[in-house]
Amino acid sequence: MSTTTGAFIAGGIAACGAVTVTHSFETVKIRLQLQGELQSKKEAVRLYKGVLHGVGVIFRNEGAKGLLRGLSCAYIYQMTLNGCRLGFYEPLRSSITNLIYKDSSVQALGVNIFSGATSGILGAAAGSPFFLVKTRLQSFSPFLPVGTQHHYKNAWDGMKQIYTHEGIKGLYRGVGPAMVRTGFGSSVQLPTYFFAKRRLVRHLGMEEGIPLHLASSAASGFVVCCVMHPPDTVMSRMYNQTGSLYSGAFDCLYRTVKTEGIFAVYKGFFAHLARILPHTILTLSLAEQTMKVMRKIEDRVLPESIKEKI
Ligand SMILES: *[C@@H]1O[C@H](CO)[C@@H](O)[C@H](O)[C@H]1NC(C)=O
Repeated sequence: MSTTTGAFIAGGIAACGAVTVTHSFETVKIRLQLQGELQSKKEAVRLYKGVLHGVGVIFRNEGAKGLLRGLSCAYIYQMTLNGCRLGFYEPLRSSITNLIYKDSSVQALGVNIFSGATSGILGAAAGSPFFLVKTRLQSFSPFLPVGTQHHYKNAWDGMKQIYTHEGIKGLYRGVGPAMVRTGFGSSVQLPTYFFAKRRLVRHLGMEEGIPLHLASSAASGFVVCCVMHPPDTVMSRMYNQTGSLYSGAFDCLYRTVKTEGIFAVYKGFFAHLARILPHTILTLSLAEQTMKVMRKIEDRVLPESIKEKI
């Protein structure tokens, strides 16, 4: 068993690797979610026509820099979120399971879902200010702007400006939908991962190893994207606003659906999928590897007295 700190570091490193590869799609997703906000389909101008078109347009006009806006914020956010998620999941799960079943090795779906959601929600709340600044950096474009154009020099400048003008409250704008979004995503990520893994072993006779990790995380990523996207759209729009366009998340959801139609909550879905699939595959598969390395390092480095307590 790895220590919680070990899991925290391992999970964070795995997530940052995944983020670097998929950040471009995240940028496109945010612009797709914001374009045509509160406009009927007929009047909305579609500057970005889909995932590939979006990536192409941004790359041609703004270069790689345009696609990678807000990357440092994404790193800090991922360290916070996935560190919490992968770090707190197992301790939470085993202590609750132990409490209920007097045996922490039992796999109870309900407990797994609860632990996944709780650790994700904690991470999302802690990381929300970084996600806010990231969203604003990514929607900034000198060529085809969508959303409010916030002029932040970098992540730190963004945090500072928001704090100076609006205080802590400004930094925590949109934290509600951010927690819901991540709660939805986290509550299905690890359970579907382990579920798919067990099924693939049992029914297809797959063995522990990289192909099994890849297949299980792909299945998990797809389900995560489906449940997470609607609150994600609400969150992006709450993060964009500076005034009080919406009074809250439900107001945003209601007015979005009313003016743009029910499918508006799935705007940018394919860009999200293009990000989440490789992200989940990389995070979960890398996590299996980094956890292994971390365990080896700890075995060598930690004194026996600490190891016995783990
Ligand atoms: C972004 O927020 C501003 C308010 O700050 C609002 O006027 C605008 O409609 C929102 N959406 C877009 C796509 O600009």
